Amino acid sequence: MCQKKQRCEEASCYRERWGGGFPPFLGIFCVGFVSGGSLVTAALAKRTRSRCLDSSSHQPQPGRQVSDGTYRTVKNSLAMLLPFLLYGAAHFLAAAKGEVVQDFKNCLEFFLDKMPPGESLTPPREAKICQFYRNAYRFATMYDREKRIPIYSAYKCKPGKGHRYQGWMIEPQLVDPTLGKGMEDERETNIAATGIKKSQATFDDYAQALSIEKGHLNPVSHQPDEDSRAATSTLTNIVPQYSKLNEGAWAEHESLLKKEAQACHDMYVLVGAVPGDEYISDLRVNKPSHIWSAACCVLDNQHRKSWAALAKNSENEVKEYSLETLQKILAELYGKKKVDLFNGSCN
Ligand SMILES: *[C@@H]1O[C@H](CO)[C@@H](O)[C@H](O)[C@H]1NC(C)=O
Repeated sequence: MCQKKQRCEEASCYRERWGGGFPPFLGIFCVGFVSGGSLVTAALAKRTRSRCLDSSSHQPQPGRQVSDGTYRTVKNSLAMLLPFLLYGAAHFLAAAKGEVVQDFKNCLEFFLDKMPPGESLTPPREAKICQFYRNAYRFATMYDREKRIPIYSAYKCKPGKGHRYQGWMIEPQLVDPTLGKGMEDERETNIAATGIKKSQATFDDYAQALSIEKGHLNPVSHQPDEDSRAATSTLTNIVPQYSKLNEGAWAEHESLLKKEAQACHDMYVLVGAVPGDEYISDLRVNKPSHIWSAACCVLDNQHRKSWAALAKNSENEVKEYSLETLQKILAELYGKKKVDLFNGSCN
């Protein structure tokens, strides 16, 4: 829902506010009501005007005066109508845009029981991205357009083989929902850089940062094939991560999960970043204070097993916790009452 004004600058929200929520018949009713009201006002004004003219001693040309008055009332009525005309135009445009509301409905398969985590992790200017690459959804990301980092990525851990993609992708939907649902290589896109930079990080943002690398939330090594592996190279799946952690303890943690996944029928993983107080690239991109991960191994219909881990970005150490403890720590770090990552369905 869009309670905040700033969020309604976004095209998707535009639709949510004007296209989705407010029924069209109400708009038509308003237009009808106001036009009717204006006509009555105009008629009354005209009558008053001619009476005034009749009683004045010096008689100017009545015709001209009356038409001046009418002109003014018509102008006023139009001014009154304007908001409603704008409303109509907005509604028409939003409807023409088609399916632009962003949610996870096309990529629920990447969440355990098709249940995304509760809204406690949702940032004020969120984007729910179904990561689409080469004709398929590859994973899901909750993105913070203001801090320009993902809050979490959700995926199924299915380690496989493939080359590493040489390049970085950006997300057209974040520029304008009409630009399509698929990620595009930053070097090949036709979208202007100024538009892209508004609400997402670009390759340049990471170029100057010291001791910092582009840290994947959904890592290359947990994906089954060339295309899914390439899809992780999208900057909406990337946070500024200290090189030491990225290449050290976090890489080890990723290998460990990869091994554990072999025993699971399915392993659902959430990897997230807790926004920190520092930024890179002139305050453009937040540097997370912590990176966390939570996994649910589905063994069969009756048996599930969870893992949870947390690392301070600035330290090369990953600590393992029970899922419950991680959720408590996250609730504290995000300043929320409760964090529920798997709808209470994995212990
Ligand atoms: C989510 O949890 C609630 C409460 O335990 C439960 O009723 C509901 O069925 C769960 N949803 C799914 C899709 O498992």
